[in-house]
Amino acid sequence: METIKVHDKEFSKYIDAQKIDAAVTDVANQINREMADKNPLFLVVLNGAFMFASDLLKKITFPMEVSFVKLSSYVGTQTTSVVRELIGLDEVLHDRTVIIVEDIIDTGITMGVTMEKLKKLEAKEVKIATLLYKPDAFKMNYEIDYIGINIPNEFIVGYGLDYNGHGRNIPGIYKIIEP
Ligand code: IMP
Ligand code: MG
Repeated sequence: METIKVHDKEFSKYIDAQKIDAAVTDVANQINREMADKNPLFLVVLNGAFMFASDLLKKITFPMEVSFVKLSSYVGTQTTSVVRELIGLDEVLHDRTVIIVEDIIDTGITMGVTMEKLKKLEAKEVKIATLLYKPDAFKMNYEIDYIGINIPNEFIVGYGLDYNGHGRNIPGIYKIIEP
């Protein structure tokens, strides 16, 4: 078993670069089929989605635009406050089709917040594309339009995803080895 150390924890090889590429191609093909006449704006949620977005968008074959947003960490006082703001968005979304690009949907709360913010900006249609999805952890009830790979409820790192800020550059995906 191939293992690596990221920051202070061990991880084992889980999804190799080739399988990731196949999943990215799958998502791109579906989007190419369904969204080609909509001139969508791809909204990439930083930081985690940068690598997925880079590979995905190279496989998109129709005219499109891309922009990058970030959810601020806590605005407000402390842990209980989940008021987060979408920062970096300078496009007008009114009446546009938006495709949110995420690295992973876990509980789904982050994506839920993002969608609420976008709906207030009167986007015509908001679609979601995520490379990874943890169905057992998901506790929201919106639909996820494009999913690359379903994974169990385990902590992973690599291909944009980090552990304490580390490991985003690793080409494959590794899962944590619980001691
Ligand atoms: P959610 O709000 O629970 O869906 O969490 C989404 C965010 O948590 C993602 O955008 C990631 O930044 C982070 N996250 C969730 N699961 C993992 C993981 O397994 N590894 C690294 N980051 C994760
Ligand atoms: Mg993310």
